[in-house]
Amino acid sequence: MISIIGSGRVGTSIAFLCVSNALDDILLVNRDEGKAIGESLDVSNAIPSTSKFSITGTSDYSKIIGSDIVVITASMGVYLNDRTENMVSQTTMIKEIAQKIKQYCPTAIVLLISNPLDILTYFFQKETSFSRFKVFGIASSLDTSRFRYLLSEKFSVPQSSVDGALVLGEHGDSMVPIFSRVKIGGKSLTSLLNDDEQASITNAVRNYWKDLRHYKSRSQFGIAKNAFDVIDSIVNNREFSVPVSVVLQGEYGENDVAMGVPVLINSSGISKILDIVLDDSESLLLQKSSQRIHDQINSI
Ligand code: 2OP
Repeated sequence: MISIIGSGRVGTSIAFLCVSNALDDILLVNRDEGKAIGESLDVSNAIPSTSKFSITGTSDYSKIIGSDIVVITASMGVYLNDRTENMVSQTTMIKEIAQKIKQYCPTAIVLLISNPLDILTYFFQKETSFSRFKVFGIASSLDTSRFRYLLSEKFSVPQSSVDGALVLGEHGDSMVPIFSRVKIGGKSLTSLLNDDEQASITNAVRNYWKDLRHYKSRSQFGIAKNAFDVIDSIVNNREFSVPVSVVLQGEYGENDVAMGVPVLINSSGISKILDIVLDDSESLLLQKSSQRIHDQINSI
């Protein structure tokens, strides 16, 4: 069973993908039980006739017992300019949820989606003492999707012609698009863009969520698909290379902080944190990103 804490747009979109792909039984958990039940009734109509799985909604945390995966999308409020705006209330919330998950399904793999992503991933792992390889935040893959999309638009090529796009670090203003590994139609991206163009794309990736909010209240489908791909790789034990936020213990020279780094996922969670080569300026930006997350953690 996969339990999804929070049944707003993102939680229900993840549920929809899991249900329509007949991945597993889904439990939607929401403080407002009526909302959880209503969404589950709606999503249940997307269950394929060949599926053996179902979906239910509840406000009762004890029903998460037996979950193999718990996905946390819950949020205490709306933020407008920075994902860290509700950092204190979100941290209090995540510690409460962490205690419940520790009580009811201590062996589950836990995926965090709620913001501020890296900070909540850090505090969840500390609060539960779960293996850091079973607690990770999904967001750098969303940032990577945005980077790839912006590059495909800039060069008027399909996304399939953009190889090696990757965004690491904070899911926030200091995230680091990695230009040095990208190839467009086989050509190195750094040979195709000057410094100003790179800076402009970096800003566009970092501000994508705000630009989107000029037209739509919140992002929904990109994060849902990126979360689904990770869930699918866990459920089907499909080795999957993806950047996620994880508490670091020496990797990339960082300690006691969670941020987006490339990993391999399989049915046990993170099977390996990948050590990839970055250029000097990217390594420096990643250090700065980590410092920003450290500062935020220490401010709580
Ligand atoms: C996003 O990047 C808001 O974190 C959310 O769309």
